[in-house]
Amino acid sequence: MDEMSRKILFPRAAIQKRVQELGGQISGDYAGRELVVIGILKGAFIFMADLIREISIPCNIDFVRVASYGASSENSGKVVMTKDIETSIKGRDILIVEDIVDTGLTLQYLVGWLKERNPHSLKICVFLDKRKRRKVSFEADYVGFTIDDGFVVGYGLDFNEQYRFFPDVYVIKQ
Ligand code: IMP
Repeated sequence: MDEMSRKILFPRAAIQKRVQELGGQISGDYAGRELVVIGILKGAFIFMADLIREISIPCNIDFVRVASYGASSENSGKVVMTKDIETSIKGRDILIVEDIVDTGLTLQYLVGWLKERNPHSLKICVFLDKRKRRKVSFEADYVGFTIDDGFVVGYGLDFNEQYRFFPDVYVIKQ
């Protein structure tokens, strides 16, 4: 993708600063406790790697993989778990980490799935929130940045499995 077809939205320095703030906030909110941080593959892996290094309380780490079927830039509404967690979460404090919440369908499905295992608490941290595009009512507890409509890539986020490795976040020009 050439530079004409993408526009920088969040440079790496702004991302780093915001992730530090989120880590500080989460560390304060869970002071004296222990967290199980569950990342949603693949998109959240870079954000989660940075975030947990800004959290100063003990963290256990696990991952889920959730696939939503349909065109690459639209959630069709059919969400399927393709990799479950390997940690027991009963009675524990859980923080789900996701790259972006768009329609809200993926996180709604995952929250339902994890709540059946009776965690003590469950909160959600998203790097980006496309608030205006919700199809189901859904609020994240921690949000890196709220963005308008538009497809974004970089910092773990892909378009057809490309561009995840960009250190900055770009919006693809339509
Ligand atoms: P939701 O279920 O519609 O909330 O969609 C969440 C998932 O859609 C995210 O985990 C991403 O994989 C994908 N997604 C939504 N918007 C974007 C975007 O702008 N860039 C990259 N992936 C996106």
